[in-house]
This record gives sequence, C-alpha cells and structure tokens, in this order.
Amino acid sequence: MTKKSKIEELREKRAESRLGGGEKRIEAQHARGKLTARERIELLLDKGSFRETDAFVTHRVEDFGLGERKYLGDSVVTGWGTIDNRLVYVFSQDFTVFGGSLGQAHAQKIVKIMDMALKNGAPVIGLNDSGGARIQEGVVSLGGYADIFLRNTLASGVIPQISVIMGPCAGGAVYSPAITDFIFMVKESSYMFITGPEVVKTVTHEDVSFEELGGAGVHSDTSGVCHVAGDSEVETLALVREMFAFLPQNNMEDPPLFDSGDDPLRREEALDTIIPEDPSKPYDMKDVIRLIVDDRKFFEIHAEYAANIVVGFARLGGRPVGIVANQPAVLAGALDIDSSKKAGRFVRFCDAFNFPIITFVDVPGFLPGVDQEHGGVISSGAKLLYAFCEATVPKLTVITRKAYGGAYDVMSSKHIRADFNVAWPGAEIAVMGPDGAVNIIFRKELVEADDPTSRKDELVADYRDKFANPYIAASYGYIDDVIEPGETRPRLINALNMLENKRDQNPPKKHGNIPL
Ligand code: HXC
Repeated sequence: MTKKSKIEELREKRAESRLGGGEKRIEAQHARGKLTARERIELLLDKGSFRETDAFVTHRVEDFGLGERKYLGDSVVTGWGTIDNRLVYVFSQDFTVFGGSLGQAHAQKIVKIMDMALKNGAPVIGLNDSGGARIQEGVVSLGGYADIFLRNTLASGVIPQISVIMGPCAGGAVYSPAITDFIFMVKESSYMFITGPEVVKTVTHEDVSFEELGGAGVHSDTSGVCHVAGDSEVETLALVREMFAFLPQNNMEDPPLFDSGDDPLRREEALDTIIPEDPSKPYDMKDVIRLIVDDRKFFEIHAEYAANIVVGFARLGGRPVGIVANQPAVLAGALDIDSSKKAGRFVRFCDAFNFPIITFVDVPGFLPGVDQEHGGVISSGAKLLYAFCEATVPKLTVITRKAYGGAYDVMSSKHIRADFNVAWPGAEIAVMGPDGAVNIIFRKELVEADDPTSRKDELVADYRDKFANPYIAASYGYIDDVIEPGETRPRLINALNMLENKRDQNPPKKHGNIPL
C-alpha cells in the first residue's frame, strides 16, 4: 500500500465513523425532529474546536449476531473542545447506533474522557440520547454504568458536570445525570424515568404517557429533577453555553470575570419604592435581582420548581455570583420542603466552585401544615441550614423586608458565618410577624378587652414600631448596616471586593453528614 492510499484508508475510516449508524438512521433521527450526536456537539462547542477521541473503537461482542454489526466509534461520540475558548470534555450518545445503548465499549469511551477531565481540571458535558443498557451485553453494561457513576461521584465538587437529556434516559441510566450538577432537558423530546409507562401500568395500574411520566415539563415543575428546560435542542444547547460562561473550570479556580461595562456604582432609585406599603402585599423578587446585577442578566436555575425560592447565576461588577432569594410572590416566600432542597443543593454547588453567595431575604417563616411536617420539612429545612452553615465562600445577605423566626437564622444570617449582612430600612427582623406575636403575648389581655379589635390594632402598631424594624438587629451587630435600597448594587460590589481574599475553612473531617 502506498503512503497515499494509507491516508485514503484513514479518511475512509473516519468518514465511516462519522456516519454512525448510517444515512438511513440519520434520516430517521432528523425525521423525529432530532439532531445527530455530532450535530449537537457542533452546536455546543466553539466552531471547529472539537477533537474526537476513540473514533475507531468498536464493541467486542459476537453473540446475538452483533459480530456482524460493528460501527466505528460505537454508539457514543467523545472528545474535547472549547466553549468561549475554554476547555470542556464532551460525550454525545449516538442514537443511530443501537439506539445509543451503552455497552462496554461505549462506557469505556465515556470513562476515558471523564478521567481526562478530572486529571486536567475541566468540566464534562454529557449529551444523553440512549435506550439504556445494551441488552445483548447484559451485566457488562451494568458494570459500565457503575464505572461512570463512580467517576461522576469522584468528580463531584472537583469539576462541574452538566447533563443534557435529548432523548430517552431510562432505568438506572438516569443516575449518572442525577449525580451531575445540572440537568438540562429538551421539552417534548426527552424523558427520564426509572421505569417506563408500561411497567408502571403493570405494577400500579396507572395509565400515563412518556411525557406525563418523565418529560421536561414534569421534571421542571414537579420533581425538580430538571434544572433548565429548552424549547428545542438548539435552544437547550445555547442555554448550556450561557450557563457555562459563569462556571470555573474546576474547584481550584474562581469563576471567570466578565466586565459588561455596567457601572459598579450605579444606583437604582426604582428599588426605593419597589416594596409595597402593605407588608402583606407581594412583589417579584426577580425584579429586585435584575435591577441590581450586571446588565439585568440573571440565569435562573429551577425556574419552575419550588418558585417560592429563586436561585441562579448573575454577575456583580463582572464577578459571577450565586443568588438565593425568597420569592414573596409565591407562597409569600415561605420556606418549605422543596424550596429548602432546591436552595440547599444550589448553595453547595456555589460553595464547591467558589461562587460568592448573595442572599435576598423576605421570608415569613417555614410553611405550616400537616403535609409539610409529615413530608419531613424538619430534615429538608435542615439541609438548607446545613448548606449555608458549612459554606466558606463570601456570603452577603440583604434583608429586603421580612426575616422571621427560624427562617431568619437559616437565610445566611450573621450567626452562621455570613460576611456582610445588611437590611433595607423597612425590614422586619423578629421571632414572628406582629399579628401572630400580639395574639400570643397579649392573649389574656385581648380576651378581657372591651373592644378586642381596636385594642389588637393598637398592640400590633405598638409591636411593629418597637420590634418590626431592622434597628434592634443592628444594635446587636447582627446586621452590619441599614442601607438605602437604591444603593444595594454599589454596596454589594464594594463588599465583594472587600471579601476578595476571604479565607475560611471547616474543621478537618472525612465529610460532614448533611441531613439528606
Ligand atoms: C440494544 C437497543 C436498545 C438497548 C434500543 N436499541 N434500545 N439495542 N439495547 N437497550 C436498538 C433497537 O433494537 C433499534 O435497533 C434501535 O436501537 C432503535 O430503537 P427503536 O426501538 O427502533 O427506537 P424507538 O422506537 O425510538 O424506541 C426507543 C426506545 C426503545 C424507547 C429507547 O428502543 C426501547 O424501549 N428500548 C429498550 C429500552 C430498555 O428497556 N433499556 C434497558 C433499560 S434498563 P435497530 O437495529 O432496529 O435500529 C437500563 C438499566 C441501566 O438501562 C442500569 C444501570 C445501572
């Protein structure tokens, strides 16, 4: 063979590998409105940056006629490339080859890039579109999944891991995405479940469609499994890129600075009047966030799930931050089981990857109710408390209105090592709201009063004057300052600069025991 023909041979093999399961199956994938594994990688990464690895790997199985059906690269495309010129490792399951199912070769390819990512300190993004364990390979497939789960776990907190679900993801296969930091799903064309509709029907006699059981909708608003959902594959991949821009490469780095040009000293007078006069009236905390952060850009995580708390990424003075905020527009901003879990996990991500945490507080307390108590709000609330307590990144807290009861302590209070705690002048920091407090403290007096209603109004007004303000907390140094709402942005940016070199650590231990 001449040198030229060897090069030809290489080119032919590469072309064959690029075709995956062949033209027909690619057409079938397109006919379903779905992109191929390679097209997705092209959209995700910077143009021309993808470098493939293991394009010539094949499975080694001879049973069930598989010996005759080998595809170069098997059913996953792996390699590395860049997003905004920053290194990232990628795997993209190829549904055109055995339905993207995972056998030994497929698993080994993923494991290889995960090991490289961990060694070189760069994130991993997995694009999932797979029929699950390759049935013909039996237990070897299960072993392959376990090899991946182990690496997901070991890499957790070391490099960011993102999963994008772009087709089926069923059975134990869901546990790899579940261990990663963020799950993105495509609406109407992806689903995740442990057992599918047919098994559900057999076991529980429930009739449910794929979408109702495990589509992006239900995982976005009900289960909370999905963090971000896009309307199409193209939009979902664009959202991944957008979030990626906030993330550091690994836990030893700070998140990347990006100067948008938004004036760090910008005052925002609209904030001075954003809180309604009536303390029981809601407002949208996301308006507060947008008015404060750079360019009004807030990348929300879990937007549909547990909307009584808001979490996401933004920048302040060019520095990426994690934002956690009670949402008075939903359930009056009360904390409950789901919101505690949602925010607790986000706080831990921020702490692991060096994001300062900005907490906006307007919380009437934990949500009362039998469902909440029986559902374990005690342990769930403790998750959020634990997460804030153990976090050693810069913690900045702004109390915009209410900070009542245990929720005051939980929401990044001074007592649990927050660094910069301020309140707006209308803030009410107390054990409970004036109404509840008066009912308890003055129960006897109210029963005996000639006109209980007007007496109660007097007592409530008196309580509000004395206790429902930020100055008692300020007199103890529990908040560092009372600030004008309009100056919140410059004050936060100033405090972030002041905390730039913060060093704090927890006692040496194998790991803590968060109330999971
Ligand atoms: C081998 C598979 C496969 C699998 C699909 N294929 N899933 N091959 N192992 N798990 C193959 C099909 O034989 C077919 O091959 C091609 O992929 C496309 O599949 P279709 O069925 O034609 O596609 P579609 O109608 O879109 O249905 C997709 C599907 C369905 C819903 C994913 O294929 C399906 O239900 N597959 C089985 C899913 C499953 O039960 N997996 C095991 C789950 S348990 P040809 O050659 O015809 O193109 C599991 C455990 C993990 O994953 C445990 C980890 C601990």
